[in-house]
Amino acid sequence: MNNRVVNVLAATSVAGLLFALFGLSSGTAGAADPAAQVKERQQTMKAMGGGLGAVAKYVKGEGATAEDASKGVAALVAASGKDPKAVFPEGTEVGVGDSAAKPELWKNWSKAQSDWGAVQPAAQKLQAALQGGDRAQVAQALAATSKTCGGCHEDFRIKKN
Ligand code: HEC
Repeated sequence: MNNRVVNVLAATSVAGLLFALFGLSSGTAGAADPAAQVKERQQTMKAMGGGLGAVAKYVKGEGATAEDASKGVAALVAASGKDPKAVFPEGTEVGVGDSAAKPELWKNWSKAQSDWGAVQPAAQKLQAALQGGDRAQVAQALAATSKTCGGCHEDFRIKKN
């Protein structure tokens, strides 16, 4: 086989590979599928809710250990660090999948963005309070963190029964 033939074959297989990869990524429920984006957001929210819940259970002495609380707050810090544009992509309002996000969220994007941006600093304070071990401080930071969630839900999330 001469070099030309080898090169043509190599080029063909690379193109084939790219096609296969592209086909795969658009065929599965990928990032461009709005219903999948809604699901992904709900997963992010659930992770935050679970994390905050673990801290709350720990504070109330309802079965969660200090380790549960510290894992929970770590999940919360991580999830709240996501880019708001990725969590709330346009075209994922109520009507898409089972989205409960009001269209107002995008009409008031700067408010939504700052609501989102307030979560991580609050979660980091909560994490520091947990590490400090002062329960009163943890409780206070917990309340402050859940306020950051509630404010956005109040404005931009439809109430489900
Ligand atoms: C910037 C706005 C915003 C902030 C901040 C926010 N959320 Fe949400 N949250 C939403 C919206 C919008 C929905 C509805 C999402 C959907 O149905 O697509 C939602 C839904 C949820 C859900 C339900 C998910 C499901 O399974 O349908 C939970 C749980 C939740 N949020 C927890 C939290 C917690 C905990 C925090 C704070 C640590 C928080 N959220 C902060 C906007 C926000």
